[in-house]
Amino acid sequence: MFITFEGIEGSGKTTQLRRLADRLPEAVITKEPGGTPLADEIRGILLDARSRLDPLAELFLFAASRRQNVVEVIRPALDDGRVVLCDRFTDATLAYQGFGRLLDLDRLRMLNDWATGSLQPDLTVLFDLPEEVGLDRARSRNVEATKNEGRFEAEDLRFHRRVREGYLALAAAEPERTARRTMCSTE
Ligand code: TYD
Repeated sequence: MFITFEGIEGSGKTTQLRRLADRLPEAVITKEPGGTPLADEIRGILLDARSRLDPLAELFLFAASRRQNVVEVIRPALDDGRVVLCDRFTDATLAYQGFGRLLDLDRLRMLNDWATGSLQPDLTVLFDLPEEVGLDRARSRNVEATKNEGRFEAEDLRFHRRVREGYLALAAAEPERTARRTMCSTE
């Protein structure tokens, strides 16, 4: 069983993933971008606010990180019959690079398919909340952290609104795979 957690910045998905992980001690936990030593290095480039990344170069780095994670972590775990919980996956590329950066969705789907060997989550949980609430939360968290990981938080509210609407459209298009949870702002 392959379960992915999606949502805009500050939606609480990582907290919920950890809660589920506590109940499933045998599950393999991973995240994107990242999940392997090499993919973690790519993550550093992708999230660093100092990176001047072209949108296509950004896309290919996400795809490279995903490929490493699928080949080294996710696929072997699934083949072993393990449950895998992943913090973001292919829907994030459609939401952020497609709806956010306005890259062509069909090409993104093709690239996702190619990078993952057509691996699809069995279940995707989408955590939804207003973008201004999520962004405030994510930005203040980033100020507290010492790491320089704010490249996406630095995008304006319109970008994050498009990402949120993108996620909602994707969930509506595949209701049998997606469970949507509305987060209240105090959660
Ligand atoms: P991360 O710190 O993991 O954000 P969060 O804590 O909100 O999950 O950073 C991941 C960022 O990368 C996040 O802003 C979403 C973005 N992203 C994409 O743009 N495309 C992708 O395919 C993935 C996996 C993430």
